[in-house]
Amino acid sequence: MKLPFALAKRFVAGESFEDAKPKVEKLNNKEIKITLDLLGENVEDRETADETVESYIDLLKSINAAGLDSTISIKLTMMGLDIDRAYCKDNLFQLLDVARDNDQFVRIDMEGTDYTQETIDLFTEAFEEYGKHVGIVIQAYLHRTKEDIDELAELGADVRICKGAYNEPADLAIQDMDKIRESYKECTKVLLEKTDYPRIATHDDELIDWVKAYAKENDIDKECFEFQMLYGLRQDTMEEFVEDGYNARIYVPFGTMWFPYFKRRLMERKENIWFVLSTMFKK
Ligand code: FDA
Repeated sequence: MKLPFALAKRFVAGESFEDAKPKVEKLNNKEIKITLDLLGENVEDRETADETVESYIDLLKSINAAGLDSTISIKLTMMGLDIDRAYCKDNLFQLLDVARDNDQFVRIDMEGTDYTQETIDLFTEAFEEYGKHVGIVIQAYLHRTKEDIDELAELGADVRICKGAYNEPADLAIQDMDKIRESYKECTKVLLEKTDYPRIATHDDELIDWVKAYAKENDIDKECFEFQMLYGLRQDTMEEFVEDGYNARIYVPFGTMWFPYFKRRLMERKENIWFVLSTMFKK
């Protein structure tokens, strides 16, 4: 059964770039930066992976042509990581060639634990070649993360820190929310102290307040990091960040393959389910 897009429209900016563009412009006009995510995951054949690379390249070009203040966020499983590592690397480098030529930025999202090591390795190889044009995401809930963060900080990588969105078993991921927050704070400390510009992705007030207080106590300028949130969530808070002098970036997903992303947002927070149910019954 094909679900109607109307269900997802709170969290997904449209099914095409043209749908998403006016929403991005509106946010840019409020001095909120964007990262655009063309939705999809786990491509299993080369034809689709090739098409995805073309679509990502088109997306970079369209952002440039439209003059949007937006980076892009990508998933390696959409570029053939399940098919062949060398092929995926070629695809990633093709995309990064375009990003470098146009002075743009590509962030590699972090997926489930089957891909953590490969993602870090491919990022590291890309970082050696493309430097400031590529970044990675690290998930605070993984037991391995403290070590990864230290290594990435040492490298001078551009890291987005998030809690982690996938269902992972207890031997790989912390299950208790307070402990995930502790890990998040530890990772963020390392990033704030050792990297140029960490990206702090969360909607959680406890973490946001902690970051603000930590930065203030340690004389870390507001310009030296940014807060990131997902499209459709807490936009008023993002506007307040800008008013208070913090940098803010919204992750804006779009595309026809919105269902897995939409499902993760619903599983994460019961209020999101109520929201969707209420829109179903509105005329
Ligand atoms: P969480 O959902 O844990 O909520 C904690 C508390 O925050 C709530 O109890 C409430 O108090 C407050 N809160 C949350 N939402 C709120 C709302 N809408 N309004 C008011 N209060 C609210 N994951 C991943 O695995 N790989 C990735 O690459 C990324 N990338 C990414 C980018 C960006 C920009 C973001 C914001 C997130 C990701 N994630 C991700 C997802 C991330 O791992 C995580 O699943 C979600 O951000 C949910 O965790 P939070 O810390 O945001 O709050």
